[in-house]
Amino acid sequence: HTPFLSDRFGRRINYVRISITEHCNFRCVYCSPAEGTPYFDREDHLKAAEYDRLLQIFARLGVQHVRLTGGEPLIHPGLLDRVRCAKRAGIPKVSLSTNGYLLDRLAGALAEAGVARINVSLDSLEADRFNRITRGGKLGRVLAGLDAARQAGIPSIKLNVVLQGQDSLDELPDLVEYARQHRFDIQFIETMPLGMAGTAILASDYVSVAAAKQRLERHWRLEPVQSPGDQGPARAHRLEGSDIRVGFISPISENFCSTCNRVRLTAAGRLVFCLGQEAGLDLLPLLRQDPDDAAIASMIRERVWFEKPERHFFNEDQSRSARVYMMRLGG
Ligand code: GTP
Ligand code: 5AD
Ligand code: SF4
Repeated sequence: HTPFLSDRFGRRINYVRISITEHCNFRCVYCSPAEGTPYFDREDHLKAAEYDRLLQIFARLGVQHVRLTGGEPLIHPGLLDRVRCAKRAGIPKVSLSTNGYLLDRLAGALAEAGVARINVSLDSLEADRFNRITRGGKLGRVLAGLDAARQAGIPSIKLNVVLQGQDSLDELPDLVEYARQHRFDIQFIETMPLGMAGTAILASDYVSVAAAKQRLERHWRLEPVQSPGDQGPARAHRLEGSDIRVGFISPISENFCSTCNRVRLTAAGRLVFCLGQEAGLDLLPLLRQDPDDAAIASMIRERVWFEKPERHFFNEDQSRSARVYMMRLGG
């Protein structure tokens, strides 16, 4: 074996998505039931020093990119420390996925701490529809947050749009026009059957990336391009006459798992090998029993190698993914 993380299917794993909290200030309809999802016990949350130790272990395992997720990472008081610590550990790229609600306050500090890329959910530009999808979120604040992120000089800003129903198809041109004017990248995502919420939306309101692309091509030419960053799930395109990228993430209509480069860490310290399932390696007891970092690193290497599944089974078997809480896995 090389010392780096890899799996039985020949994939190099150099990207970890770290959920720093399973709490969120929104309850988006495709992610959460109205009443929210269960929280971990307080004592089961990774502590600051435990995150820091893991970040060093990941760096030693060749991880090149850490994306901080949630729940909603901006509500967690330890966020800036995690960013700084990942940088200190030598992880070259640190990024963030957020609903943007608190960005207007935090963008400056995040840029200063070294966040290179930020992905912001923006499912609608109509205040009422936005409010309904997020169950109470205020569109104006997210837009102000996006402006603040741009002002703060965060190098790459990308919008996430989850495809859901005819209304979302009708809104796509406006969303792309907004992205074009503000020079944000944008990506469209097929709803995944994660938890009961996502499973229900997928069943009633499925929209494929092909339909989305067709709708956009009435207005613009989209030219397929190599993704600029890592090999993520998005298929990138250049929007004619502009330098923004338009991406499509197609978990339902076109499987992209053969290029998977990632694993996930929950806020309770479980390393999860695929988004479609919550099984994984519980690192918290290991950290608390205190085996040395080299022992933990080799356990991670071994388990990822043997247990990372080849792909998700969203089309064949939703009984597993419907039990997964998106809020714990951070997407
Ligand atoms: P980069 O690859 O780092 O550019 O980010 P991303 O676009 O993957 O991250 P983001 O957090 O913005 O997620 C966008 C959408 O992609 C969300 O719906 C995620 O759930 C989904 N996604 C991210 N990674 C995976 C993956 O490995 N598998 C699947 N099925 N979906 C993923
Ligand atoms: N299917 C697809 N994307 C989802 N997200 C949350 N739940 C789902 C789902 N069921 C997206 C959010 C956010 C990203 C991290 O994951 O919109 O942008
Ligand atoms: Fe990787 Fe699983 Fe996502 Fe497929 S669904 S890309 S295997 S994490």
